[in-house]
Amino acid sequence: MAPRLHTVIVSTRPTRIGPSIARWFHEFAKSHGKFDAQLVDLADFNLPLVDEPHHPMRRQYTQEHTKKWTASVNAADAFVFVTPEYNYTEPPSLSNAFDYAYWEWQYKPVAFVSYGGVSGGLRSAQTARLHASTLKMMPIPEGVALPNVFAQIKDGVFTPNNLNEQGATATLNELLKWTNALAGLREEIRAGK
Ligand SMILES: Cc1cc2nc3c(=O)[nH]c(=O)nc-3n(C[C@H](O)[C@H](O)[C@H](O)COP(=O)(O)O)c2cc1C
Repeated sequence: MAPRLHTVIVSTRPTRIGPSIARWFHEFAKSHGKFDAQLVDLADFNLPLVDEPHHPMRRQYTQEHTKKWTASVNAADAFVFVTPEYNYTEPPSLSNAFDYAYWEWQYKPVAFVSYGGVSGGLRSAQTARLHASTLKMMPIPEGVALPNVFAQIKDGVFTPNNLNEQGATATLNELLKWTNALAGLREEIRAGK
């Protein structure tokens, strides 16, 4: 069975551009052919700031939104976060979504498609990598950075250039290696060991 890759739309703002970029990457991942590729929109989960009474390590979730989100995280074998940069860092929507789960993240490789102005969202990807590694995700260096991304979006459609496609291919190839290499460790976690 192909490993399951979740491409996650991180921005939840009403006028966000994240979905345009994520749709491109998700279609690219489908045509890559080695993953069971799924598109996940963080906005669909409507997560408030963490409102659980217990540390997620205990898995005693009380809120429906937490149960729904952690089930989604649990189902994935790898992630690509399509993320903007807010004030040189990861958006609070991503940071908050990370904090809702614990075991569900572990031993899953992650990559970032980041976007923004001159920085291409790279600073956001860097702070998110630090956060992800604390939850025992495996952030890989490969990724796609999209500087001045606004010029590549017209009528809600993102048009990639050659460099973007090369980056996406390298990212998916490397993610696949780590996804396979960490499969045994994910099995142990899912079996509750
Ligand atoms: C609160 C906020 C902070 C921002 N900070 C940055 C930044 O640090 N670097 C950057 O390149 N763009 C920044 N921007 C501009 C974003 O790149 C741009 O608004 C982009 O559309 C955000 O992605 P989204 O529309 O998917 O939310 C910021 C935008 C917002 C709303």
